[in-house]
Amino acid sequence: MINKLLIISIVLAFSMGTRSQDTPSLRDLAEERGILIGTAVEYDPLDSDATYASVLAQHYNMVIPANEMKMRALRPTPDEFTFGRADGIVAFAQENDMQVRGGPLAWHQAVAYWIRHRNLSRDEAMLALEEHIKAVVGHYKGQVFAWDVVNEAVHDSGMALRGTDISLYDSDSLWLTTIGPEYIALAFQWAHEADPDALLFYNDYNTEKSRTKANAVYNLVASLVEQGVPIHGVGFQMHINASEPPDYNFIRSEFARISDLGLQIHITELDVRISDMDTPRSESLQRQADVYREITNICLEFDSCTALITWGFTDRHSWLNTPADENAPLPFDMNYQPKPAFFALSDVLSAN
Ligand code: G3I
Repeated sequence: MINKLLIISIVLAFSMGTRSQDTPSLRDLAEERGILIGTAVEYDPLDSDATYASVLAQHYNMVIPANEMKMRALRPTPDEFTFGRADGIVAFAQENDMQVRGGPLAWHQAVAYWIRHRNLSRDEAMLALEEHIKAVVGHYKGQVFAWDVVNEAVHDSGMALRGTDISLYDSDSLWLTTIGPEYIALAFQWAHEADPDALLFYNDYNTEKSRTKANAVYNLVASLVEQGVPIHGVGFQMHINASEPPDYNFIRSEFARISDLGLQIHITELDVRISDMDTPRSESLQRQADVYREITNICLEFDSCTALITWGFTDRHSWLNTPADENAPLPFDMNYQPKPAFFALSDVLSAN
């Protein structure tokens, strides 16, 4: 599998000089603006679909493995680490001069089955999380430049940390219920010990639109900074519905106060679904492009916003996929053709 990825990479390395003339390369434009442009990638299409790999290498200078660095993927048993698929994505990125962003390291979802189905004591849970974080960050030391260390730790209500009630539904955090709220600071500390040069992020969703959630995330990261915890940035996921575009000045004010803490901002999982819209599809796609345009503009307004990442790049492979391609949330369509959202990105990145 990995060999196949390397062969695709070598072919791409030779074909980079023939980048498509009719569509500008997003990565070339982003590099001129001094920001990273990234996407989540899935191993299977990368391994089997040459078009997926070539569009990816042409337009992006950063990847996040969509699922392959999650605990459940890496840790089938207590004693086993299955790095093969994640290593394949990292090798592809290196061959194509792309950065790699990793994680999530401590998340309430995708917890290894052998952990979720045991009644761990506090000490056992701490040992398991420490060992996991140190082993994974250590394995990719010097190869993964930034990690989502803690992901989605704040409850949707914004009123508490996720998992404050004791039941272990999937929406609750086993890390909070076993270790307590200090798991967050500890996770950053352990990641920092394993790779002191890596940038460490707190990542969450709805922070572009929910006042209570945004306040809770701000208060959490401000308190980490104040305690001297090694945190370097905040990820705004931005899974957006085009029928309810965000208040862009709200986003500006959030970016401003996070920047004032001395933290970087990465837009980590941008996608814009259109299935709730009652407009003709061509108009919906324009409205979607408007959201991509505004978000990219805001990122460029802030020196602290150093990366813009979409959660996938082609509608062929999205977590929001429906058989009818109703959500169509990404800049390239099912056939890898650029959509209005792509041209919104390229227009903003190429503007003076
Ligand atoms: O690969 C198996 C396949 O072999 C099996 O047949 C199939 C049956 O369900 O499952 C496949 O794995 C699925 C995997 O996606 C790959 O498609 C998992 O069940 C499924 O849980 C997993 O969902 C991922 C989800 O996170 C949970 O980990 C999505 O792909 C991924 O896009 C989504 O990403 C999250 C971010 O990590 C955090 N922020 C929200 C974002 C969207 O939910």
